[in-house]
Amino acid sequence: MKLFDVYPLYNVTPVSAKGIVVTDDKGQEYLDFYGGHAVISIGHSHPHYIKRLKDQLDKIGFYSNAVQNPLQEELAEKLGTLSGCQDYNLFLCNSGAEANENALKMASFETGKSRIVAFKNSFHGRTSAAVAATDNAAINAPINKQQQVTFLSLGDAEGLKRELSKGDVCAVILEAIQGVGGLDEPSTQFYQDIEALCKENSLILIADEVQSGYGRTGKFFGFQHHGIQPDIISIAKGMGNGFPVGGILIHEDIKASHGLLGTTFGGNHLACAASIAVLEVIEEEKLVENAAKIGAYFNEKAKEIPRVKRVKGRGLMLGLEFDFEVGPLRKKMIYEHHLFTGGAKDKYVLRILPALNITEQDIDVFFKALKSALD
Ligand SMILES: Cc1ncc(COP(=O)(O)O)c(C=O)c1O
Repeated sequence: MKLFDVYPLYNVTPVSAKGIVVTDDKGQEYLDFYGGHAVISIGHSHPHYIKRLKDQLDKIGFYSNAVQNPLQEELAEKLGTLSGCQDYNLFLCNSGAEANENALKMASFETGKSRIVAFKNSFHGRTSAAVAATDNAAINAPINKQQQVTFLSLGDAEGLKRELSKGDVCAVILEAIQGVGGLDEPSTQFYQDIEALCKENSLILIADEVQSGYGRTGKFFGFQHHGIQPDIISIAKGMGNGFPVGGILIHEDIKASHGLLGTTFGGNHLACAASIAVLEVIEEEKLVENAAKIGAYFNEKAKEIPRVKRVKGRGLMLGLEFDFEVGPLRKKMIYEHHLFTGGAKDKYVLRILPALNITEQDIDVFFKALKSALD
């Protein structure tokens, strides 16, 4: 059997990784400024993370959600404390798309309505309602197109008012900072308009923090830069530092009932151990603060490079905008400078999504390589 060929692959085969260094099968080291697509939050192979997972595996790796699992409660407690979201309840699942799928489903259950309002250039995953709320026709199959979704421009407060007043919308879903789209973020006023309009029309505001959450933007959640309180928050990527895990934080005003949501694998013992380890390291090493500090340093250093038109994003969820398409630059960075970066739907934006414990020295190495690649 061969693999179903859906990924255009770089010719690199990582076999080990430590911190931000990834080593391939030929012994070549690469610096990881991509974090495996914003997934590596505490660095590759963090010793505390490895120990937690190994210890858990020696005890029990999995049992179904039909029995007590105190690790889920420990995770919920720690996540509530570190994120400042104590008045939410946690539902655990396995990926970002699944988190958004459940968030949208909850919104529909809660309101009895089914139309979704999402934003242009959004990315929310590849499953049913999540992909329908993703602004990319190429990855929506006819079966997905049955969902009712209206896409608005970021900042279109009038459009939002008009759509929400029609009375058939269950949820507004937005990324605090757009990831795949290319690091766009509307004004604080617009976030606050969204929150007010959702309240006024009794519908659910979903913050998709799958990429921007877990400290990446210099606050635990990206929406916290704008002083709003979503009804549901979806999480994944940085949560497990590579272990597949996701979840939604559901405001306690929204009530649970048995059987409403469910999953076989979600919240299993290993996923909880990985997620607790990540939170312990984020707290112990003050990684949210580090993301803010190193992000500011990155912005300063970027000013030294005239070909950078603009730095987008916050903390360590960053984009460098150029006046040329960055595909060839990414290739050059990998093959000649041995450094991973990311691309975006906006082909002029180079994405930088490193582990949150990166240092100023690492940023210096990045800019030295970038300068040389641009020359
Ligand atoms: C903001 C956002 N939401 C959802 C997803 C989907 O996550 P997953 O690939 O884990 O399904 C992604 C993935 O890139 C994302 O960036």
